This record gives sequence, structure tokens and C-alpha cells, in this order.
Amino acid sequence: MSDVVDIHAPEGAPAELVRWVTEVAELTKPDSVYWVTGTIEERDRLYGEMVESGMLIKLNEEKRPGCYLARSAPSDVARVEARTFICSAKEEDAGPTNNWADPEKMKDTLAGLFDGSMRGRTMYVIPFSMGPLGGDISKLGIEITDSPYVVVSMMIMTRAGNAALERIMAGEYWVPAVHSVGYPLADDQGYQRPDIAWPCNEEKYITHFPETREIWSYGSGYGGNALLGKKCYALRIASVLARDEGWLAEHMLILRITGPDGRQYHLTAAFPSACGKTNLAMLRPTIPGWKVETIGDDIAWMRPGEDGRLYAINPEAGFFGVAPGTSEKTNPTALHALGHDTIFTNVALTDDGDIWWEGMTDEPPEHLIDWQGNDWTPASETPAAHPNSRFTVRADQAESISPAWEDPAGVPVDVILFGGRRATNVPLITESYDWEAGVFVGATVSSEQTAAAEGSVGELRRDPFAMLPFCGYNMADYWAHWLKMGKVLGDKAPRIFQVNWFRKDEEGHFLWPGFGDNSRAIEWALRRVNGEIEAVDSINGRLPKLEDLNVEGLDISPEHLQALFAIDPQAWAHEADLTEQYFKQFGKKLPKELLSQLSAIRERIGQAA
Ligand code: GTP
Ligand code: SPV
Ligand code: MN
Repeated sequence: MSDVVDIHAPEGAPAELVRWVTEVAELTKPDSVYWVTGTIEERDRLYGEMVESGMLIKLNEEKRPGCYLARSAPSDVARVEARTFICSAKEEDAGPTNNWADPEKMKDTLAGLFDGSMRGRTMYVIPFSMGPLGGDISKLGIEITDSPYVVVSMMIMTRAGNAALERIMAGEYWVPAVHSVGYPLADDQGYQRPDIAWPCNEEKYITHFPETREIWSYGSGYGGNALLGKKCYALRIASVLARDEGWLAEHMLILRITGPDGRQYHLTAAFPSACGKTNLAMLRPTIPGWKVETIGDDIAWMRPGEDGRLYAINPEAGFFGVAPGTSEKTNPTALHALGHDTIFTNVALTDDGDIWWEGMTDEPPEHLIDWQGNDWTPASETPAAHPNSRFTVRADQAESISPAWEDPAGVPVDVILFGGRRATNVPLITESYDWEAGVFVGATVSSEQTAAAEGSVGELRRDPFAMLPFCGYNMADYWAHWLKMGKVLGDKAPRIFQVNWFRKDEEGHFLWPGFGDNSRAIEWALRRVNGEIEAVDSINGRLPKLEDLNVEGLDISPEHLQALFAIDPQAWAHEADLTEQYFKQFGKKLPKELLSQLSAIRERIGQAA
């Protein structure tokens, strides 16, 4: 077998690009190289090939036109944080919350792993734009992958194809990203093996080189491990670019909310993975007169505009959303978006070729094929859909999509929310005293771990700014960058609030109905922004006067309402001790402002006790 591959470079491809693709092809040794153009015909041909090979199941064309089901390997169902590396020249630039690896050594390891890793396969070259093509905040990239599932997913999640390539040919900046599932179909002796439905490798490496702005990902075909425009580029590499260029790359949804008086506001919110960003982005307010439009559900790139305000774009073009729990009650908008042209991964298959997951309906179907391809009945002890099963769908399939969602200039942000899953202590909503206090709130977010990453589900962990797995540099430097951005924005900075939809009573029931009723908390925040109402000073910020929270039509007892906002000084003193310990690991890099915030909180605890 010859190791020489014709890379079929398109006419006009810059020399630097041709060199890089050639190098990767020489290393990975695919059978052929294919440049993704982004047409519907190309997409449908890839779908057809994957159905043929068994990688995708075509769903009932009448019930779910244009929809497909993929079942991953049971060992490849979520992001692998333990196998995610920031390979900065200096270890301290990755910081204590990231896995660091020496860039030279990692390059050696990767050279070994990628050597021949695409044998017997097609190597796809996907030019893509994060953000509307040509927008000031947008950026380009090229992902090389040996997974056609990644290609069709990138076609949904990004603006992929010739339009992006043309801008690269015109000399615009782009980030290189290489991905292989690590399952070659032949070895260096030419011995061949058949493909399998979900090829991947037990050994996984999700690696980032912040100085050279490169991404190399090996061994996984799932979500953020493999769709490299998403977490690897739009968060880990982009956070580094943002630090250097004076902007913000954040794990945040973006929405527009319009009040009964017609006034529009824009809100971004950082919640950890599987903690309700998609739900909030598609919120249907239960209070009359309010309307929410979706701009993004996972990532926000934000830059100060000419008027000094902070402007946000959604760098993505689609939603890679958590399926379980999505229902006509919790998120009808998402459910309706999934009616056609959607890829489902690891959900259950119904007998009539449709899909199902836990929480979709009150009564599960009598019989299903579960996410692993086995028969399932309501008596089965394992879930039918994997808890981190997902849908991949274009953003404009959501009926709530905002006309502003592709505005290259972005939308001006009025409010930033920080939240997590907290059964105790954290009130439904709290307003931060100022930007610095808000940065402290973001820096100290903790949340119960979800199935979005490998690990013990339910365990409380720190997830500062919901960026723990996504910050491409030292978290303490990232906090310093946020503090600096506050100075740049001054009195034009968005107002910061902390929210918690997940507080529970002693029996473990949620105190707050959540979902559409979260509009009630947001309404309070916006009335605060407008200076319409007073608030009550408390330990970690300002709380609503209970009479100001609109609970009309809500079935909630006065005791539950009290409990939602209860602040126990002793519990907060304990939180403060844990925060002090947590901060210690950052050593001298910890911004002194955060320590002053901690002292201020302790002072207020002292006064409250
Ligand atoms: P990633 O895509 O992983 O970044 O997560 P996400 O934040 O977009 O997660 P998503 O919105 O899909 O969260 C899904 C989970 O949050 C489901 O289990 C929902 O039932 C739950 N959830 C969302 N909103 C609420 C709420 O207001 N109250 C309660 N109790 N649960 C909620
Ligand atoms: C998350 O885990 O925050 C996600 C899913 O949005 S993934 O793209 O797989 O990282
Ligand atoms: Mn996410």
C-alpha cells in the first residue's frame, strides 16, 4: 500500500493550508481525502452512506422526515474531562483546574497515535465559520476528521463548507483542528478489518495548544470530544484568544426577552452542562405579556461595541441538546424543532421507527429498542435512552429563534445570570452588588455533577463560570480577565444575578416549578435593572422582597416561597470556608479582589448571625 495520498486541494487553497492537510494526510494515511463543500446533496449522500454502513438508522420518514439515529459505543457517551489536556508551554498557564501536558511531549504522543489512524478511511476536510460568515466577532476554522458522523454534525452545528473556505482563501485567520476516531480499517501490513457502527478507541486524547492555537482530538466520536468547533475551539482556544484580544468566550446561552411594554432586553446565562441552558434559551414565559426569543443555547462570544456596551453572538449554528427530560411540558419549543432533519444520538427507538427518551411522555411505550440496541420494556431496570443522549438540530428549526440570531454585530447584553444545581443554600435569585461581586459569584459556582461528562453524577463540584472543563488557560487569570472587562465596560456593564432553579425541600422535592416559571425570576431581575423596585441586602447579594416576585397563577405555598429565599448564616459561613480553601490552590495568581469579596461576605455573615 502506498503512503502517498493525493489531497485534492481545491484551486486557490493557500499554501499553508495545503501543507497542513498534506502533513496530516501523510501522518494518518487515509485512502482518500475529501473537501466538504456544504451542499444538501453532499449531506444526503453522506447520510445514505452511513445508513448503508450501519452507522446511522434512518427514522420513519413520515413521522420524522430527514431524521437519523446513531448509537455510540457504551464507552463513548460523553466528554472525557480526565483525557482533556491544555498543552501550554508553561504548566502554570494551564492552572490547577486543567490537566496540563508538555506540548512537545504531547506532540510526540499524538504523532504515534495518529500515525496510520485513518487507514482504510476517507479523511474529510471541513472548513467552517463560528459565527455568521464574515462577522466582526466570527472566526474560521478547519476540522480534519475521519468520521462522516462528525461531518454531518458539523454541517448542522457550524457554517461549514465552501463559503468558509473562500474566506480562508482570501487570507482570513483560521484555527486548525484534527480529529480521528482512532479505528483504522487496516494496519501497516495491509491487514484489513471491517468497520463497526461506532468506531472509537479506548485511549482518548482531547488536546489543545493555546500558544499555537491548535486542536488535536483522538479516540472519541462523541459531542464535544469530536465536534471540534464547539468546546475545543469556541471555548478552550477562543477563551485564550479572548484574553489576548479583550473579549469573552463563554459557556452561556443568549436570549432576547420582550416585556409587555415592548421593551427588549438581552440576557446571557452560564449554567454547567445539563443544567438548563437549552431550556432557558427556549423559555415560554408563564407570565402574561412576556416573550422570549432564542439566540443561542450553549456558547456566547461577547465583545465591547462602539457604544461601550457588551455585544454577544452565538458562534454556533445548531443545538447539541440533552434529550432526556425534553417534553411538551418542559420544552415544547425544542420538541417541535426535532420534528425533522435532526440527528439523534443514544436515544431509544420505537417500534414504528420513531424516538423516545425518559421524560418525553408520562407513560413509556410498551416496547422499545434501547440506546444500546437491546429490547426494552417499562419493566427494564436500565434507562431506554442514555442520560447524556442528545439531539443535533439547526438553530433556525426552533420556532423561538430570534430574528437577531444571525446578526453579525451581536445583541447588547443587559443581564448575565450565573447558576447551577444546588439542593441547598442558594436562593432562587440574588442580585450581585456590583461587577466584582458578580465575578465572585461566577468564580464560586458549585453544582451537582450531571451525565454530560464522565464522573459521579450528583456530586457537588466547583464549576466556576460553568467553565471548569472549558477554560483554555489558568482559571485565576480568567477571573482577572473578567475583572478587567468590568473596568473596560464601566457603568455600561451588564448587571449580574445568581439563580438556582434546583433548591429542594427536606423530602428532596424541587421547591420551584422551574421551566416556564423561571420567567418570574427574570422579570424581577429586569425590574431591578429598570430601577422600578427595591431589594433586600443579604449575605451574597440583594434578594427580592417576596411581594415583588410575580407568583400569580402559581401553586406555591408561602412556606415554600420563604424556603426558596432562606439564607442560613451558618451554612454560608461554611461555604465561605470552602471557598477560602478552594481559592488557595491558585496561589499568587488569585485576584485580590476575590479575597476582598470573601471578606465582605464574611462581614455580612457576622452581621446576620
Ligand atoms: P449542555 O448542553 O450540556 O451544556 O447543557 P444545558 O445547560 O443546555 O442543559 P439542558 O438545558 O439540556 O438541561 C437539561 C436538564 O436540566 C434536564 O434534566 C432538565 O429537566 C433540567 N432542567 C432545565 N431547566 C430546569 C428547571 O427550571 N427546573 C428543573 N428542576 N430542571 C430543569
Ligand atoms: C456540555 O457538556 O456542556 C455540552 C455537550 O454542551 S458537549 O458538546 O458534548 O460538550
Ligand atoms: Mn455545554
